[in-house]
This record gives sequence, structure tokens and C-alpha cells, in this order.
Amino acid sequence: MKITVVGAGFVGATTAQRLAEKELGDIVLHDIVEGMPQGKALDMMESACLEDFDSTVQGTNDPADYSGSDVVVITSGLARQPGMSRDDLLLKNAEIVGGVAENVRKYAPDAIVIVVSNPLDVMTYLVGAKTGFPKHRVMGMAGVLDSARFRCFIAMELGVSHRDVEAMVLGGHGDDMVPLARYSTVSGIGIEALLPKEKIDAMIVRTRNGGAEIVKLLQKGSAYYAPSAAAVQMVQSIVRDEKRILPVAAYCTGQYGIKGQFVGVPVQLGRKGVEKIIELSLTENELKQLQASASHVAASVEKLGV
Ligand code: 2OP
Repeated sequence: MKITVVGAGFVGATTAQRLAEKELGDIVLHDIVEGMPQGKALDMMESACLEDFDSTVQGTNDPADYSGSDVVVITSGLARQPGMSRDDLLLKNAEIVGGVAENVRKYAPDAIVIVVSNPLDVMTYLVGAKTGFPKHRVMGMAGVLDSARFRCFIAMELGVSHRDVEAMVLGGHGDDMVPLARYSTVSGIGIEALLPKEKIDAMIVRTRNGGAEIVKLLQKGSAYYAPSAAAVQMVQSIVRDEKRILPVAAYCTGQYGIKGQFVGVPVQLGRKGVEKIIELSLTENELKQLQASASHVAASVEKLGV
């Protein structure tokens, strides 16, 4: 497998490192900054004998090196600064990510594309439009990250192993994402049977603010350990054809009453990309929240005029 990571900042470089250490394929790390992807790639290669992996990591400034990629992960763009919402990034990152999408279309026409850049759902839409790829080959990484945060908070609150905690977060990767307590469990036991409503509500709020909480602590830049791990879990499900059921920003064609838009929904992820969208049975209130989140994404897409 050949996996290209576009953008060699913290998220991109950590993604490349995790992919190489898991030996999911040979990695190309691309950035426009001269020397930076080459330096980081060489540094990773020099760790191979210590970390014991056989994947290669090639750093480059030339998008022609995307050629033959099975999967492309797009992490390019500016990161959030304190006080900045994901939407503030919209216009600037649209310019950057739009250019990357054109390169992907030209040099890696058969790739499956995972978008990580923010604002996530809008950038995924942009990549879908600019590449013109079949929609099952374009998706955004958000739900896996948001669910991981929810799982982490549930495990910490209950003092149980994170291994036993499953959670589901749908909707756009924004302040109105929809963490679903009803579909969140500890060893199959619904969290509503284990925790009082106030605690669950507080964890939902913390999950929604998960990205901002890290931005506030770091003061410069945003999260990258969990975002890169989430992107790698998606890549792994694709390249190993694991067919995992994961929440990702996928193109909806009427599911959940959402049409012609990328938004976080549970999908089956395998060698073909998004192989199936799973339609959970939602309460009226949950569905309303999901549709409201989707409308917010649609309004941002409109601002871009793509
Ligand atoms: C996050 O949630 C940066 O959107 C990213 O951490």
C-alpha cells in the first residue's frame, strides 16, 4: 500500500509516524515548506531500526510523488488558535485544501481520500467537489476523534478501562456535534444505567468542546495525538479491509433526511472506502440535533460557493 500524507505539521507528521510504526504501507509525507517533510521523513526512517518497522517514509515538496497512492490523508491548512472557531478557518483553509484536492485529482486519481483539515465537514465537501471522485472514496475524519474523546471522558469518570468503552458521536465536527449517550456503552451496558444524567450532560459538553479545550491549554496550535490516531484507525480499516463500523464524515444521499452533504454518520469502512452508511434508529430529539448540525455545515458550504 502507498499512503500519502499531505501537510507535515504536527497532525500530518504524527499521522505518518503512526502509519509507519504500524506498517500500514509505504508513506509519502508532502509539504510545501522546503526541507521540512524531508527532514521529518529522514528522522522517522532513522527510528525504523529502533521501533522495528519496515515501512519507508519519503519526504517531498513535489505533489507528483502522490502518484500511485492507495490512500491520501489531507492535513494541510492552518490550525486553530485560542479564541478561533473552526469556521474562522474556513476561507483560508479552503484555498489551501482546494489546491491540494486538485493535485490529488491529477496525481492520485484512484486514491481514497481522508480529509482532516478544518472546518472538517466543509473541507470534505470541497475535496469531494474538486476531485470529482466517487463519493464513497472521499470522507472526513471527525467522528472517530470525537467518539474517542467521549470514550476517554466516560472511562475517566467511571474509573474503568477505556478498552471496554464504546461511544458514538454523529454530526458535524463543530460545537453542535451530537454525542449519543444512548449508543454509548461500557462492556455492553448503556452509560445511562451507570451514570447520572448531569454527569453525562457534562461529558457531552466537554466532548463538544474537546478540540477547544486542547487549543486553550496549548495556547499555540491544536490537538494532534488523538486526531492522528483517529485518522490512522480509518486508514487501517481501509487498507486491511477491516470493515469497521466507525463514525466518519460521509456523503449522505437521504440517510437521516440529509441529502447531498458530508456529515458525521456511522459507516462501514473497507477497501472500497465508505461501503455502507448505517442508519441508526434515533429519537426525534437526536434526529433534530443531527439535522441542525448538518444545516450548519450546509450554511458554511454555501459561504464557499463551491
Ligand atoms: C480538534 O478537534 C483540531 O478539530 C481538531 O482537536
